[in-house]
Amino acid sequence: MIGQDELQHIREQVDIVDVISSYIPLTQKGRNFFGVCPFHDDNHPSMSVSREKQIYTCFACGATGNVFKFIMDYEHVSFMEAVAIVATKAGVELNFHLKKTHSTSSKYQKLYDCYSLASKLYQNNLHTKSGSGALEYLKKRQIDDACMKEFEIGYSLKDGQVLTNLLLNKKYEKTVLLKSGLVIENAYGLSDIYIDRVMFPLWDLEGRVVGFSGRLYNDEKQFKYINSKESEIFKKGELLYNYHRAKEEARKKKQIILMEGFMDVIRAYTIGIKNVVATMGTAVTKEQASHLKRLSNDIVICFDGDAAGAKGTASCIEELLKLGVTPKVVRLENDLDPDEYIRKYGASAFQNKLNNPMSTMDFKLLYYKKNKDLSDSADLTSYVKEVISELSKIPDEVMREVTLKKVHDESGLEISFLREQLEKLEVQEVKNVSVPIVKKEKDKKETKYEKAEKALLFYMLRDGNAIRVYQEKVTFMPTKVYRNLAREISCFYNEYGKIELADFMTYVSDHEMIEEALSSIVTLPLKEEAKEEELNDYAKVIREYTIKSEIKRLQKEMAGASLEEKTKLATRIVELRLGDKKYDK
Ligand code: UTP
Ligand code: MN
Repeated sequence: MIGQDELQHIREQVDIVDVISSYIPLTQKGRNFFGVCPFHDDNHPSMSVSREKQIYTCFACGATGNVFKFIMDYEHVSFMEAVAIVATKAGVELNFHLKKTHSTSSKYQKLYDCYSLASKLYQNNLHTKSGSGALEYLKKRQIDDACMKEFEIGYSLKDGQVLTNLLLNKKYEKTVLLKSGLVIENAYGLSDIYIDRVMFPLWDLEGRVVGFSGRLYNDEKQFKYINSKESEIFKKGELLYNYHRAKEEARKKKQIILMEGFMDVIRAYTIGIKNVVATMGTAVTKEQASHLKRLSNDIVICFDGDAAGAKGTASCIEELLKLGVTPKVVRLENDLDPDEYIRKYGASAFQNKLNNPMSTMDFKLLYYKKNKDLSDSADLTSYVKEVISELSKIPDEVMREVTLKKVHDESGLEISFLREQLEKLEVQEVKNVSVPIVKKEKDKKETKYEKAEKALLFYMLRDGNAIRVYQEKVTFMPTKVYRNLAREISCFYNEYGKIELADFMTYVSDHEMIEEALSSIVTLPLKEEAKEEELNDYAKVIREYTIKSEIKRLQKEMAGASLEEKTKLATRIVELRLGDKKYDK
């Protein structure tokens, strides 16, 4: 792990203005530099970059951060990769090797080695006499030699001892063999799990083989694929098929395409579409969604054309919306999957589909309309309700208006009525805090306490004096996330003797909630400096909240208390009320 001091050192070696202007043009206006924000659909320069503070801030979309954050979000790379990029720009030697971020890799080295050996064996088998049936099957599916090589496709022999013996000869322990899921133990001893199947290796995000999927090739039984069992290094729901190969291409094309099956990915490759990954089944996990987001903000879901594919698309959209990404959707006709579609209609027909995806909302309109008769009142009612509920999750205001208009056209209901329904739903949702979508600040009614907390935090981020006011006169912020943020600022200040915003951003970068709160505070439209008495006023307001709620609690307690206890509680209440006066002079 790389320490905070080293991170600060690396960050100080570059000027954020130079780095950002190597990606987007910046022009100087006064003390700050301005450019068109790359993190939202910006048409005039809303992003300001501060040389003094070494941070960027977009006043339109609220994006903010230091040089590491900019590179992470612009290049879609991990934090460590961003650090490495900055270090390279600065000419700083890193003490860690990025390729070996898995410090635990040696622990599982034997497992990795087993899979790697197995993969070589399987590939070799495919070109032996016993593999001829499998090879023929692949050829018939129009998978050529180059493609087999690229995706390391192989074949497991009918003789169920070959891999087991190979691994035993290489002196791997039985426990490792069993753990790998490549070998099973039965009454007769150890033997291979995969027998007479076409073998597809599955890779982790870094491109190491961590499992296999074996396909029946002479029979269309229900379980045509058998996947390796999950292990310490193979969790199917945490990887995306082809991630390591698609990474570069997704960045170049600024888009990633998501499919269900790995055969679909392989087919797409044969027609030159390489920014593509697969979930290997329809249910998209939280982890997969966040890998996708890392690859690109422009995500196109192209699942199978059947009903299961539509359902999978809907749930995938859910997961992505939770991360603040609105994907696009391609639907294929006649229940075809991408592989079948490409083979049936050709490469350019498929490319054409990809070039004209529908919006998430259009997909949902279609999805909810399915099997409904909109001339039937009950169907129409449930349709409108479903669409409105979906709409409440979409942050894009224009998209909302456009959709309301469509629903109006379809249902004949007044737009104002539909909008009212939507607003009602949103009030409920804010209460349940179910969807962490960035709602516009002004939509929420903010209490004076929250305002004071945020203002004090704003100044704590630039002024040691404000931190002292917090440490001496507040100590407790009513809102949890602000409380945590204040505590982090306080710790940082105590440790480094000053508050440097750009470094503090790195300091909290692994706490998503705190990072989010920090962004909302950094972008507050407050004046740069506050007078001592203003700081004291904020502190007083915050304290008032704490005292009020404590008094309320004590009053409740009084209701059921004995006379003696009542007196005690009353005294405590008076003390609390007076106590605060102490700070007033
Ligand atoms: P599909 O059934 O859509 O596979 O399952 P496919 O891509 O069309 O396969 P072919 O064309 O028949 O060869 C999509 C994905 O779901 C997983 C696999 O990872 C597959 O790529 N799956 C499917 C299984 O794990 N087991 C199964 O039995 C079926
Ligand atoms: Mn298929």
